[in-house]
Amino acid sequence: MPRKIILDVDTGSDDACAIMLAYLHPDIDLQAVCTVKGNQPIQYTTENTLRIRELLNADFPVYKGCSGSLVKNVVYPRIPPTANADAYDEQGNKIHIHQELFDLPESKGDIEELNAPNFYVDYLSKTREKITIVAVGPLTNLAVALIMKPEIAENIEEIVIMGGGWNITNATLAAEFNIYDDPEAAQRVLHCGAKITMVPLDATHSAYISREDAQDLRKINTPASLFAADLIDVRILVHDYAQPLEVPHTCALHDPLCIAYLIDPEVLQDVKLCNVEVSLSGLTEGQTCVDQRAIQENRNVNFAFKGDHERFSKILLEAFRG
Ligand code: RIB
Ligand code: CA
Repeated sequence: MPRKIILDVDTGSDDACAIMLAYLHPDIDLQAVCTVKGNQPIQYTTENTLRIRELLNADFPVYKGCSGSLVKNVVYPRIPPTANADAYDEQGNKIHIHQELFDLPESKGDIEELNAPNFYVDYLSKTREKITIVAVGPLTNLAVALIMKPEIAENIEEIVIMGGGWNITNATLAAEFNIYDDPEAAQRVLHCGAKITMVPLDATHSAYISREDAQDLRKINTPASLFAADLIDVRILVHDYAQPLEVPHTCALHDPLCIAYLIDPEVLQDVKLCNVEVSLSGLTEGQTCVDQRAIQENRNVNFAFKGDHERFSKILLEAFRG
């Protein structure tokens, strides 16, 4: 039976690959996509999501979400994380890991009337079967919905979050971007009572995707596989320049790893149920503090310390081969 999911995205390059993997793989039933600000402002993340929907000739509903965080940036200008998402190509042109708008035709389709938090409250109040939420951007939409109606957590099968880090960070010296962008939202979601699996940078960096994987996607030669290969090639350039992984000419493709976990749980390794709290201020703002003591309280998160790159690339390619 395909796993029913709602995908919450801040569509940038890896979010786009997560949407395509979720839509193309037969083991996933993509019920809806919610957009949130993050990699880009909400207008762009929503437009990019619609462009991917049209690239796939898909018809899943898209619900536009929050344009700002719960607390951050309300009282002071946005403090941009360290720019470690930029690189320079051979001609010296600056390239960013997430384009503002994808090089795809302008979208023709519409978003839904309901905004994302209200969609969550409506859907999760009415559903007769539990559903899995895969959140691969800042957690603002889900946090707002949980503030409006905490009991909706009872109808959530599992929340799979791309976010956090144990030994690896990217936004600051202490934090990963999705959590850093809205730490208060993350802290609320981590304590909502639903089963939570967190896929941090430690997992996404070890489950790297290679240049050869991008070449294999090109050989499939569909509009979706070619676009995914282009996105991966740019990500590899940026990683080689700004965040080199253990294997040269590879990239972390964070968001689709959360989808791959639902298809093959073994794609995540060294998963431990432990207490995870989010630092909300100071130098460590946005840090995921992971308790690894033998004796601890409130084990609220299944935290994946590692990923399997062979299993991950196999799942990705089988989906795009259709
Ligand atoms: O830190 C990586 C995460 O932040 C990914 O989800 C990426 O898309 C950005 O949202
Ligand atoms: Ca994302």
